[in-house]
Amino acid sequence: MANDYVVKDISLADYGRKELDIAETEMPGLMACRTEFGESKPLKGARIVGSLHMTIQTAVLIETLVELGADVRWASCNIFSTQDHAAAAIAAGGTPVFAVKGQTLEEHWDYLDKSFMFAEGANMILDDGGDATLYVLLGARVEAGETDLIEVPTSEEEEAIFAQIKKRMAETPGFFTKTRDAIVGVSEETTTGVHRLYDLHKKGQLPFPAINVNDSVTKSKFDNKYGCKESLVDGIRRATDTMMAGKVAVVCGYGDVGKGSAASLAGAGARVKVTEVDPICALQAAMDGFEVVTLEDAVKTADVFVTTTGNKDVIRIEHMREMKDMAIVGNIGHFDNEIQVAALKNHKWTNIKDQVDMIEMPSGSRIILLSQGRLLNLGNATGHPSFVMSASFTNQVLAQIELWTKGDEYQPGVYILPKHLDEKVARLHLDRIGVKLSKLSDEQAGYIGVSADGPFKPEHYRY
Ligand code: NAI
Repeated sequence: MANDYVVKDISLADYGRKELDIAETEMPGLMACRTEFGESKPLKGARIVGSLHMTIQTAVLIETLVELGADVRWASCNIFSTQDHAAAAIAAGGTPVFAVKGQTLEEHWDYLDKSFMFAEGANMILDDGGDATLYVLLGARVEAGETDLIEVPTSEEEEAIFAQIKKRMAETPGFFTKTRDAIVGVSEETTTGVHRLYDLHKKGQLPFPAINVNDSVTKSKFDNKYGCKESLVDGIRRATDTMMAGKVAVVCGYGDVGKGSAASLAGAGARVKVTEVDPICALQAAMDGFEVVTLEDAVKTADVFVTTTGNKDVIRIEHMREMKDMAIVGNIGHFDNEIQVAALKNHKWTNIKDQVDMIEMPSGSRIILLSQGRLLNLGNATGHPSFVMSASFTNQVLAQIELWTKGDEYQPGVYILPKHLDEKVARLHLDRIGVKLSKLSDEQAGYIGVSADGPFKPEHYRY
């Protein structure tokens, strides 16, 4: 067979491998999975389609899944997030991967399609944002001739996915229905993908069980928060080299990603304002010391704007027209529709470098737009550091094992990993940073009504 991969430059594999070796030293959870499950190979027979940012950290995840017995094919879930040396290392290691930093939208769906091309068909999905799940389910509905189709995020996006579905239907009739019926389960990485899954389930359109990895405590309260705390300012700096200290930054949304993002900017010395729609999160932001404002109130005076909401049309054209000259605008939420980028199409764009554009408003003032509104920490920098991704991806591995080995015990629906596994993921990350746990005595455990070995909290505890 010809090369079963699409990467930018396979000669980057050595560089990728060296960075992978370093990442492994920072990913104790994944390495512990290899030790615990490497011999028993619980993922034997699993043919996993991965749709998740093709970074160095993801490469360590992929190699862990393979070591546990899985066959894996991989695409990135974002056109700008691939690290080409990571993709090259994975391809050189023999795992098919289809991902290039800066790929087009058409290539995005073509590469995802290619990642489904197992000789015997895919039977598992590991998703980030829900594109792989959407592709199969939407395709099956198109095959069934249904017209009230699942909503997809943007019209450009919609066009590209439907074109790819039609192509596949012409080449392989019945492909989507057959694939849908073969999928044992999906594990989903992020808030936005999880929203899509609950929505599908509510509409009776989710035909297989899904594990919501995002809402493991050791995922959303760490990756979304501490991950963004490190990677947001990293992205802005690599894109613009602007002085952060003293600047006024507006963070739209104060959920987990917003909390990390505000902390990131504040840590760099920026004066941070927050916008929120939820009174609880607004109150949290205020009590964390941030001024809570409306975007309209802050738009003329701020220097940096970051959306973190997972919502659409948060920074709109009328906002961007009012911003001061050279304001920096970026998004760290999953999809680019948080910022009305489409409305800027008719303006004058000057490309500064990859993933950095200067756009001139009719008034003559300019904004700097990062990653064309796609998530800037992965588009302009390299995403979260390995250590925090180890916690996220250990949850992914446990979710894949659970679905593959016990999938038939689950009805279609969206599930969260049990708390004892969440605590296990945290426990696996303590040694690496020298954390020493205290131990409950049996009397103390009885007094607070838990087992001395955990779980240490009731289900409703919010951390
Ligand atoms: P979340 O639900 O915890 O927080 C979102 C917050 O935005 C909520 O508090 C909500 O009230 C607020 N919000 C919604 N609409 C708003 C509006 N119009 N104006 C102001 N605030 C508004 O979600 P989370 O976990 O923080 O995720 C946010 C997004 O980031 C999702 O798309 C998620 O998939 C993505 N994500 C990105 C990561 C990255 O590395 N770039 C990492 C993890 C998640």
